Amino acid sequence: MPHAHLTLNPRTSIGAIDRRLFGSFIEHLGRAVYDGIYEPGHPTADENGFRTDVIELVRELGVSTIRYPGGNFVSGFRWEDSVGPVEQRPTRLDLAWHSTESNEVGLHEFQSWLDAVGSDLMLAVNLGTRGTAEALDLLEYANLARGSALAEQRRENGQDAPFDVRMWCLGNEMDGPWQIGHRSADDYGKLASQTAKAMHAFDPDLQLVVCGSSSSTMPTFGEWERVVLGHTYDDVDFISCHAYYEDLGDRASFLASGVDMDRFIEQVVATADHVGAVRGSSKRIQLSFDEWNIWYNTRFENVDKIAGVDNWPTAPRLLEDVYTVTDAVVFGSLMISLLKHADRVTSASLAQLVNVIAPIMTEPGGPAWRQTTFFPFAATSASAVGRAVDVQLESHSYETARYGTVPVVDAVAAWNDETDSGAVYLVNRSENEVTEVTIDLTHLGDAVSVSAQTLSDPDLNAANTLTDPDRVRPTANRTVVLSAGIATITLPAVSWTEIRVSTLPGE
Ligand code: AHR
Repeated sequence: MPHAHLTLNPRTSIGAIDRRLFGSFIEHLGRAVYDGIYEPGHPTADENGFRTDVIELVRELGVSTIRYPGGNFVSGFRWEDSVGPVEQRPTRLDLAWHSTESNEVGLHEFQSWLDAVGSDLMLAVNLGTRGTAEALDLLEYANLARGSALAEQRRENGQDAPFDVRMWCLGNEMDGPWQIGHRSADDYGKLASQTAKAMHAFDPDLQLVVCGSSSSTMPTFGEWERVVLGHTYDDVDFISCHAYYEDLGDRASFLASGVDMDRFIEQVVATADHVGAVRGSSKRIQLSFDEWNIWYNTRFENVDKIAGVDNWPTAPRLLEDVYTVTDAVVFGSLMISLLKHADRVTSASLAQLVNVIAPIMTEPGGPAWRQTTFFPFAATSASAVGRAVDVQLESHSYETARYGTVPVVDAVAAWNDETDSGAVYLVNRSENEVTEVTIDLTHLGDAVSVSAQTLSDPDLNAANTLTDPDRVRPTANRTVVLSAGIATITLPAVSWTEIRVSTLPGE
């Protein structure tokens, strides 16, 4: 039986866990907005047309910041189309997803939905078809209290107080040839710097995210970050990372996707710090991992992609991946990777949230349900409070075609000094072997209690669907025992586990 050993010592701190690590992403894409969060005729719809069953699930998921309105969509988007009287808003073509955009839901409506789910807005500006002037207009419209034409226009449109958006993305995936307005690193870096400086002239405290690479597999990866940060280092707080993983027929490698995410993060950190060193700067650029998930992108590229000059559907079923228990385990390992780098990754957005590569699915006129990936996110968001803690992992390893030798188990912990409690998050990547894990808890003293939940299934392709929405759920892992400060637990093959650890009060 493979074995791993960890030590939970709250002193081996990685860094504070920023709540923004548990962000997500809603793009005007497929059925994310229309027939997703928004369905006026639905039995659960509120007075604004938003589905309250979806609102409840988003709240349960525990999402902090939500990136909006794209994604690729934003690079052809005119924000002015989406404000003002709904009946006067123009219907437009969305070239990114070959769809029709009614603009029925825009900035004001989305903000009211965010208020209902209790999340903050992270707004992206269009640096594809547009530039600095339009970004400034949107900023002034959104954030100026009163007194300018744009601020007054917002107030006339029903929003008296400014939206006060604190985090802004300077375009989206500008390194990608598919992006409308795709640019070289040099051209984009100059535009992003100019736009950031202008936005900071309005409000120096805005947090700005410059586009990093859309994937670590891009031919320009590394050099893109170096050149873009060379232009923008003093102007921005974050550089973005995007990564999607899929099972391409090699499950062993797929299960090790977190290894790739670790390397990606560490390479971007190294590149950013190199730029800082060359500049003699004491500033440290943070990472905004503002798109991450499992995405069966090859299926989209080969089967689902929409084409045709006379074919522009509204809210088509796009990117509606159904996630298996294996996907959820990889997903959980990606969350572990983010936490392992909590000192530098201080913002992240699960891409996406509803219907589109999403933890929450809906049926028009019907129910909403949790995909398998819902569970690791909800649990980690709820318990990973305080500081991320390194667990000094020692683990058996296995061979992968893609990433070489990788540990069978991956793990990280979180510790909350206020409650003197924490959690350990683990994955067992073995495809067919139960793995035993021992955890040294002696640093916590004698009075400790542990409980665990595990997500696994004998059928590695088990999933939650419209007809079987509760097929996969985490269950209590009763193998966990504690003896002389050592917890022992067995992890089923292909599983994700959360162990809650508390010190007992008054002892
Ligand atoms: O999340 C789906 C798409 O993936 C986004 O629109 C784009 O930024 C990325 O390529």
